[in-house]
Amino acid sequence: MKQRFYITTPIYYVNDVPHIGHAYTTIAADTLARYNRLKGREVFFLTGTDEHGQKVEKAAQGKGRTPKQHADIMVENFISLWKKLNISNDAFIRTTDSRHVAIVQEVLQTLYDKGEIEKRSYSGWYCTPDERFWTEKDLIDGNCPDCKRPVERIQEENYFFLMSKYQSWLIAYIEENQSYILPETRRNEVLGFLKNNALGDLCISRPKSRLAWGIPLPFDENFVTYVWFDALLNYYSATEYLASRPSSLNWWPADHHLVGKDILTTHAVYWSTMLKALGWETPKNIFAHGWWTVDGKKMSKSFGNVIDPGRMVEKYGVDAFRYFLLREVPFGLDGDFSETALINRINTDLANDLGNLLSRFLTMAEKYFGGEIECTEENIIDTAFAGECIKALHPATDDANWSNLRFNIILESVWNVVRMANNYIAQTEPWKLAKDNKVQLVQVMANIWNALRLTAVTLYPFMPDTAEKMGRQLGMIKTATEGLPGEKGIAWQYSGIRVQKGDQLFPRIETNESIKAHSDVPLQPQEQKSENANLVSIEDVAKVQLKIGRVLSAERVPKSSKLIKLLVDTGEERQVVAGIGKSYAPEELNGKSIVIVTNLKPAKLMGVESQGMLLAATDSNGVLSILIPEKDVKEGAIIK
Ligand code: MSP
Repeated sequence: MKQRFYITTPIYYVNDVPHIGHAYTTIAADTLARYNRLKGREVFFLTGTDEHGQKVEKAAQGKGRTPKQHADIMVENFISLWKKLNISNDAFIRTTDSRHVAIVQEVLQTLYDKGEIEKRSYSGWYCTPDERFWTEKDLIDGNCPDCKRPVERIQEENYFFLMSKYQSWLIAYIEENQSYILPETRRNEVLGFLKNNALGDLCISRPKSRLAWGIPLPFDENFVTYVWFDALLNYYSATEYLASRPSSLNWWPADHHLVGKDILTTHAVYWSTMLKALGWETPKNIFAHGWWTVDGKKMSKSFGNVIDPGRMVEKYGVDAFRYFLLREVPFGLDGDFSETALINRINTDLANDLGNLLSRFLTMAEKYFGGEIECTEENIIDTAFAGECIKALHPATDDANWSNLRFNIILESVWNVVRMANNYIAQTEPWKLAKDNKVQLVQVMANIWNALRLTAVTLYPFMPDTAEKMGRQLGMIKTATEGLPGEKGIAWQYSGIRVQKGDQLFPRIETNESIKAHSDVPLQPQEQKSENANLVSIEDVAKVQLKIGRVLSAERVPKSSKLIKLLVDTGEERQVVAGIGKSYAPEELNGKSIVIVTNLKPAKLMGVESQGMLLAATDSNGVLSILIPEKDVKEGAIIK
């Protein structure tokens, strides 16, 4: 029977739009899922959204929506981002799914019937943003020790999961199972916490009078379930109704839960003890990764430095972004994100080392062999170089590196091969062989081809598009998805390869301009000069012709969730295509007065001609608004 592999990401709150932290865990999980599929394992890769609780209820209130309406809108941001990031999740769970709700209620009833849940009167300090109680001694200057915001004194009856009785079991379990919590430093932190503090019982209900948005307790209709109790169960409930062949294949327990370091305690302590009380197996591993700062600062809305992963993909491409996140910092440690660092990685590792190697090889293949080269076994395996490549790639094919999530080490080993191949070209000087030793030239070329092929396949889990592109250009008969170096599926016996030079893999980014032109990050005070350098003259502004237009009709562009085609009267009729389809329905736009750039060169968007540009504003929350004139001015009115 096939081995199976089950991996999860946290389920993300739908109170806000996704940021780099969400993308990080999901890309890491995707890379592991892809690797395990290459290894021939049956994979279940789960991600999703956490839709109950106070955070979501509040965010919805702020937007004048019901929590469910809000969740339905916000979930799309995650789904579309995962598409953009090439995430190959097998399922997407929403905690408002009726099947999930039913399973949470069954679990609650089971635990209640077993005497694991008890009603008690409780008084404590409650932190609303964190949705948790603190004891007096936890508080720092009377504030929440976690988020430093004020807490409220609350006295109420609630249901408690009797977690404290599992404290010594949990300590022993973590000590006996070395790889249950990783990395080791985090494991030691959890153990330290458990050994030095008495574990309390866990309040798992909220009175409906205070919070209505949650799963009702099956045994008391006046209460809803605490959001974490509901959320953690997603990892199990998905195996019951979202995984393929749930009956013939036992998906539980998961092989890895990937989480950020801030939510390790909830997983290591709450989830482990919940499972113990249920008599279910614990996951094989919980891995806590580090946090990204941005340009050396904590990422936060108030600093205006929240990184939108979708924007990074638009600017730099999906594979460059995926590569950067997993290459720059060992998974588990904190790291700093900056566009400068990302551009450096693109220019050095991707454009210079990898891209150049491929294009040098393809150019020579075209020049010396008209694109047809003989990559036969005899031409490759007898050389020391092929053996050295395989040896250098050992870290990438070693399952232990994968199960310990040592992405950076794996990628380093691939780059060793890339560098070896670049050196090999320098040493063997194929351009000289082309003049006087065609036999040896064939061998040298076959060896470079082989190094590139190994590179493409090994890179596949990290950069699937790039690997596929390389495969096509290298004339690989089998696609990159069919096995790992040294395994069946990519054996050595390829011959008569027809290579096809394509576009450059990673064009270099010219840094002087690129930082200014590419940077979204607000300029810091010391960079004031370059901001001035970006100022435009009044003549430049006058070049842009802006007019008021009235929308005559609007409809969606087929197969696009974003684009809307508008017929607009700006004094003359024109067709304008605008990327506002996620925030506006076509019906809302009919008859509206809007602002149009009327002297823009016509362009085609998804095959539809656009003769102008509609002006709209987007804020850091991702709220998009079209601009409309304050008074009723006639269409065609000039804006200046
Ligand atoms: N809904 C809970 C998880 C429930 S899992 C059963 C939650 N959601 S969240 O939307 O807040 O997602 C948080 C995830 O993003 C966490 O894994 C957290 O560590 C991660 N990050 C948030 N900011 C981050 C950085 N600056 N850097 C890296 N990851 C960060 O918590």
